[in-house]
Amino acid sequence: MPEKEIVSKKMVKESLQESNKNVLETGVLEEENKGYAIVCNDLVKDYEIGNFLVRAVDHVSLKINNGELIVIKGPSGAGKTTLLNLLGGLDSPNSGIIYSFGVRISDMEEESLSTWRLLNSGFVFQNYNLISTLTSEENIIFPLSLSGMELKKSRERAMKLLIKMGLDDRREHLPFQLSAGEQQRVAIARALANNPPMILADEPTANLDKKTSQFIKDLFKELKRSSKTIIIVTHDDYLIGLADKIISFDDGKILDEEIIEEN
Ligand SMILES: Nc1ncnc2c1ncn2[C@@H]1O[C@H](COP(=O)(O)OP(=O)(O)OP(=O)(O)O)[C@@H](O)[C@H]1O
Ligand SMILES: [Mg+2]
Repeated sequence: MPEKEIVSKKMVKESLQESNKNVLETGVLEEENKGYAIVCNDLVKDYEIGNFLVRAVDHVSLKINNGELIVIKGPSGAGKTTLLNLLGGLDSPNSGIIYSFGVRISDMEEESLSTWRLLNSGFVFQNYNLISTLTSEENIIFPLSLSGMELKKSRERAMKLLIKMGLDDRREHLPFQLSAGEQQRVAIARALANNPPMILADEPTANLDKKTSQFIKDLFKELKRSSKTIIIVTHDDYLIGLADKIISFDDGKILDEEIIEEN
């Protein structure tokens, strides 16, 4: 792990006041941001540890077009997961503004944010995050029932996704009865369940065997063709090859944004 910059609470407070002032002065309009999957301005995310704060995201501004595939890469501890969580509405920033599809999500109450997430952003986590007491099928049905789909339809949708993932014979399995690759495929099916316009994936091909890894890469290629907005934290060359834009991230900051024309 690289050494993180540790800043005092006083410094952080002063800098947050400054960045909030900047955001207000910028006066970003919702209308202006409708054409983008993401517009974020001056994002800051700090984690408090004892008397110190770690600035995991440090004044990040970014625009992501609808239907773009973005790869975020950078060393361990750079703040990639933290940034992904902010962009997908899993966490809220300490300061700064995020619009997603024209909706300002950065200061939503948790209840509204979780509803927004359910319909707009599908997360694929590095450690799968399946609910351990639910079967594969039930894990996929879970977000469908939260969004109000009736059980019969949810079952059909879950089954369709399980078949797509090559897991129809693992329907009744609990997560601990599945291999890592199978768990990851259930997790992807769950992320796709409500057909969200944006998919966020954190190292989706890490720690998987070659065959499953290729299956998941092909799936992302297919998702890209379906015009979903996709944000992937990865170091995988194949996935990087699918990117419309590669963001190099370190120490909470964007070091470089490379636009790939031919994609
Ligand atoms: N919940 C938390 N509480 C306190 N500090 C945290 C928390 N999550 C992350 N951090 C700190 O924030 C920094 C960025 O972490 P993050 O997980 O976003 O990095 P990352 O780039 O995803 O790293 P990796 O490649 O290892 O997954 C790290 O220094 C980490 O220790
Ligand atoms: Mg991470």
